[in-house]
Amino acid sequence: MGLAKGAKGPRLAPGAEAVDAAFDGKLVAVLETLGASGAEGEATKLPAPSGVKAAIVLAVGLGEAPEDGDGYDLEALRKAAGVAARALAGTKKAAFALPAADAAEVEAVATGALLGAYAFTAYQTENGGKGSLGEVAVVGAKPRDKEHKAAAERATAVSAEVNRARDLINTPSNDLDPKAFAAQVQAAGKEFGLKVEVLDEKALAKGGYGGIIGVGRGSATPPRLVRVAYKHPKADRTLAFVGKGITYDSGGISLKPAGHNETMKCDMSGAAAVFAAVVAIAKLGLEVNVTGWLALAENMPGGNATRPGDVLRMYSGKTVEVLNTDAEGRLVLADALARASEETPDAIVDVATLTGAMVLALGDGRFGIMANDDDFRAAVHTTALAQGEDSWPMPLPQQLRKTFDSPTADIANMGVRPGGGLIAGLFLREFVGEGITWAHLDIAGPAFNEGGPFGYTPKGGTGTAVRTLVSLARQAAEDELL
Ligand code: BES
Ligand code: MN
Ligand code: ZN
Repeated sequence: MGLAKGAKGPRLAPGAEAVDAAFDGKLVAVLETLGASGAEGEATKLPAPSGVKAAIVLAVGLGEAPEDGDGYDLEALRKAAGVAARALAGTKKAAFALPAADAAEVEAVATGALLGAYAFTAYQTENGGKGSLGEVAVVGAKPRDKEHKAAAERATAVSAEVNRARDLINTPSNDLDPKAFAAQVQAAGKEFGLKVEVLDEKALAKGGYGGIIGVGRGSATPPRLVRVAYKHPKADRTLAFVGKGITYDSGGISLKPAGHNETMKCDMSGAAAVFAAVVAIAKLGLEVNVTGWLALAENMPGGNATRPGDVLRMYSGKTVEVLNTDAEGRLVLADALARASEETPDAIVDVATLTGAMVLALGDGRFGIMANDDDFRAAVHTTALAQGEDSWPMPLPQQLRKTFDSPTADIANMGVRPGGGLIAGLFLREFVGEGITWAHLDIAGPAFNEGGPFGYTPKGGTGTAVRTLVSLARQAAEDELL
């Protein structure tokens, strides 16, 4: 149940009435005695009184109570449900008695609970831990109400796919190379009726994918380009999602210094988000076509690796002088963007852990959004905000374009340091087909949580951007986008 901060002290949030009755209406007083204030992140456990069909009652803080007549902020509900789910790790089943009066609230509570219950334990043989919360029920949700039912189904499908992305991100690079990643997409394709095509290193070389080949050639595990397509027979809109899938980023010959490579298994978070979003969209059967493109490679400094100074001939035909092999994400994305553009989708959204500069600009809690269309950038930002995915619109300043001119090739893969995240965006723009609406999400900050868990966000892979992509597809399906 939920406790909020009211003007005159803590108060119960809607949904807790039955629990309060079992406490003879004294639940707030009991919680106050224990020091509970209703602050966000707070969790207080009580032994359940008779009349409550559970062993314990857990009160979670919802932060400031809304003004009279206003509903609770959906992100506050997601976060509180996530805090509760984490506090209940090891419990078989829990009933969430939080505000759940309408479908949006039901979806928020279920989503927060299912995302908060995530744990990555695949590699723990000792103290394999308590395991995560097993089953979630939302009190107040009406299973026979069509809208409530759809909301619960959405929460279940989307949360499972965010958790799929988290699993992929957390899997160490020795177990998830480009080939293994592609195999997982093929298996999911069979399960969910998606068309999956995989270009291996031979096909990539033959097809002229100089960017993907150039990045992958220093590794013992060769690169892949995966196309995973969901089609709806009645769709009149097609979206393309493009993900950066560097299964490990050592920097290549421009090797990263110690302290900068321990978390670089996360450099495929964009591809994981795209893959997970396409599966979620298929599970929901949205009336839209969505094609995911996963640019998979391992960036390593092997004897065959691309050297600083080498020139790559990209899939689009442009030539790129590689000044820094650690600016590899833009090289694999360039080929995938050019290839995706050939199918002239209504819009392209790429997702990438692209630059440290974006982390410096926005902190590690939000992704940057760049686009070749101001309205589309605003739409993506509004969409992300509604999902509780913190982000911020960033510009693509034309003055910075010349900073990656090359004396040798058409362009270089690096410009100056100031504005490094925007320069990467400008580089990608060069490979987006003429007239195609495009947005670029630089998720280098929020993709991987190096700190402790909070709200419904675990330590490690977060699965950021999955819910934004699914929501964009849902709007496209309902003719509310583009
Ligand atoms: N994968 C990194 C970016 C990154 C940094 C992701 C921190 C997550 C956390 C990317 O490939 C990279 O190395 N970018 C360079 C570009 C530079 C060489 C122009 C960077 O940001 O330093
Ligand atoms: Mn890099
Ligand atoms: Zn990288």
